[in-house]
Amino acid sequence: MIMSLQRPYAAVACLLLYCLTGGLSIPDPRQREALIEQEASMQTGGQMVLTDAEKRLDAALFKMKQEEVMRADFPPAMHFFKARPLIRSSPIFGLLQKMPKGAALHVHDFAMGSLEWLVKNVTYQPHCYMCVTDGQSIRFIFSRRPKALPHCSDWTLLEDLRAKLVNATELDHSIMANLTIFTDQDPEVLYPSQNVIWDRFEQAFLAMWGLVTYAPVFREYYYRGLTEFYMDNVMYLELRALLPEIYELDGTTHDKPWALKTYQDVTRQFTAEHPDFFGARLIFTVHRGVNMSVMTEVVEEAMKLQRDFPDIMAGFDLVGREDSGRPLWYFRDALSLPVERGVMLPFFFHAGETDLEGTEVDQNLLDALLFNTSRIGHGFALVRHPVAKGLSRRKGVAVEVCPISNQVMKLVKDLRNHPAAALMSENHPLVISSDDPAMFGSSGLSYDFYEAFVGFGGIRSNLGSLKELAINSIRYSSLTLKQQEKALALWQRQWIRFVSENVDYLKYTLTQL
Ligand SMILES: *[C@@H]1O[C@H](CO)[C@@H](O)[C@H](O)[C@H]1NC(C)=O
Ligand SMILES: *[C@@H]1O[C@H](CO)[C@@H](O)[C@H](O)[C@H]1NC(C)=O
Ligand SMILES: *[C@@H]1O[C@H](CO)[C@@H](O)[C@H](O)[C@H]1NC(C)=O
Ligand SMILES: *[C@@H]1O[C@H](CO)[C@@H](O)[C@H](O)[C@H]1NC(C)=O
Ligand SMILES: *[C@@H]1O[C@H](CO)[C@@H](O)[C@H](O)[C@H]1NC(C)=O
Ligand SMILES: [Zn+2]
Repeated sequence: MIMSLQRPYAAVACLLLYCLTGGLSIPDPRQREALIEQEASMQTGGQMVLTDAEKRLDAALFKMKQEEVMRADFPPAMHFFKARPLIRSSPIFGLLQKMPKGAALHVHDFAMGSLEWLVKNVTYQPHCYMCVTDGQSIRFIFSRRPKALPHCSDWTLLEDLRAKLVNATELDHSIMANLTIFTDQDPEVLYPSQNVIWDRFEQAFLAMWGLVTYAPVFREYYYRGLTEFYMDNVMYLELRALLPEIYELDGTTHDKPWALKTYQDVTRQFTAEHPDFFGARLIFTVHRGVNMSVMTEVVEEAMKLQRDFPDIMAGFDLVGREDSGRPLWYFRDALSLPVERGVMLPFFFHAGETDLEGTEVDQNLLDALLFNTSRIGHGFALVRHPVAKGLSRRKGVAVEVCPISNQVMKLVKDLRNHPAAALMSENHPLVISSDDPAMFGSSGLSYDFYEAFVGFGGIRSNLGSLKELAINSIRYSSLTLKQQEKALALWQRQWIRFVSENVDYLKYTLTQL
């Protein structure tokens, strides 16, 4: 190697000089090598110095990746619903599951954990009523005597219904099919457009609503969600949470502070029981379909919650489909309230989850940055906005990339073509997350790490990239610097153990075959 990596621009200068002075028609292979090195050093993890053990593990990973890329049925090129069984049998995925991935910073409350438990356990609990809407969706409520809803009046006690059936499997399947958008059918046929998939997606949340907002289930669903991420070697979470009205069997309800307090209690309990888990914080969210007066009230409430629960509450965000909701700029008066009053309310805006280039909605990215967002949710459109992209880089506002979500929601087909490929190739601040894993038939964070690492990371992303992504997830979290140091130290210990336990992963995997 003739050029040091620390002086990448020297290589360019030399190349230009070389072209000017001319000579051979074949470019100098040493110059070529230097440029290749220069580009590799610019990617996420490109400057990471690996230990000997890490280098050995990296060599194994490289080999596995080369084999994976040769496959005719290359998983990242396929729809996740079809790719899932292939990913599950991939040795790279096996390794990524064991890898300490740091934090998951973009996950939503009611899609964080398996939905199977809702069907197999929760709907089997006493007092669970179900009703089929005019639109063939379902609703649930726990009650002694449910009241009629618009478009859904005929409540059936599931206990009675199941007692009449010889075999409840079909019913359970149809309930499950309502709660998730995952399907065994051809997803391209079932969900031909973004409109169709978003409609089904929102229906699924409405269907599970009466289950997950029932107080005992609310608590346990969160605990189970934490367990799934913990088992997937994620040590910390920042959860987008709607803090909806939670109800009890007798119909009494609880408000937002109660919901937040419950999250705090369950988080503390979980962390006490799992000392190598660092914890969780909440980003309070509201649907972007609300009107201006509701938004103003919600921002007021968010400021109060931020003041009263500074430990658990990280900030505020808007959720729901950007293309059909109101743009951030529409809510500018409400969103400026905290700054006007000198009150701290960090924003974590979803922005740029769109392919509608040039529309009002497409301005969300820039507006999110103008409102000093701490991170950008998705930022799928960021590479098409050089000014927003430059700001995001300069201000260290990380993009939360959720590959499987973007593919399932039809923004990109082949994950090799995900725009984050460009961001990763120049080490743009970013983290990998999973958005609504349960809804997509995924879980935890490993599937999304797989798609990022094997799909848009390409052959070139390596163990250093994975390491930097994990470190990013802590560095770009809402934790204070002091907490980050603590979390990083905990992560570091897990990482060293992971590397030493898997140095011979390839050998082990090959003997398994
Ligand atoms: C649901 O799970 C709980 C434990 O989490 C268990 O005690 C209970 O028996 C289960 N109920 C049903 C109906 O499966
Ligand atoms: C119930 O029906 C499903 C198919 O609908 C079948 O696979 C299952 O074996 C049946 N269970 C029993 C106990 O008969
Ligand atoms: C939802 O459940 C209803 C009632 O069981 C069923 O008719 C409908 O097909 C289900 N919807 C989906 C999307 O599976
Ligand atoms: C805003 O929405 C709320 C709740 O849907 C409704 O009660 C209120 O009348 C609406 N306000 C305006 C000004 O439209
Ligand atoms: C964003 O930050 C800048 C610089 O700190 C500040 O002047 C501005 O008021 C902030 N704006 C909002 C909406 O937070
Ligand atoms: Zn999201």
